[in-house]
Amino acid sequence: MKGIKLLELPNLGDDRGQLIVAEGGNESIPFDIKRVFYIYKTTEGTTRGKHANKNSKFFFINVNGSCKIKVDDGITQEIITLNQPQKALYMDKMIWKEMYDFSEDAILIVLSSEHYDGKEYIRDYDKYLEEVNR
Ligand code: TYD
Repeated sequence: MKGIKLLELPNLGDDRGQLIVAEGGNESIPFDIKRVFYIYKTTEGTTRGKHANKNSKFFFINVNGSCKIKVDDGITQEIITLNQPQKALYMDKMIWKEMYDFSEDAILIVLSSEHYDGKEYIRDYDKYLEEVNR
């Protein structure tokens, strides 16, 4: 799907343990990181997200446990399972996203290209369809 990219991050681990690297402004993360937030201890049955962003691009890494992310560009939908710390999902702006099926131990780290601005969120799916297909 356009606007979505699944990546395998470099693992620099050795006999001391694992070390995964993702850098902003290069081919791993194609933007400069302005914000980081993480989601954990998500209660059973919870779906997060359910919005699209007019400006923010995102980079998702599930560093522990697993979760699923449904992505939707207004035409097609895809379900991505993030269940390995070296697996990452890049998401362009104006993609509808829903995060769900979090395992009890899931820790989802989200990097963003923008500072938080509630006004750039589209939280109504019908409005999203109108805007994205304009
Ligand atoms: P919400 O958009 O529901 O999070 P998610 O998309 O992960 O389901 O955000 C919950 C609340 O936190 C909401 O009031 C907005 C606020 N918030 C911030 O202030 N800054 C942030 O970076 C994020 C992600 C949320």
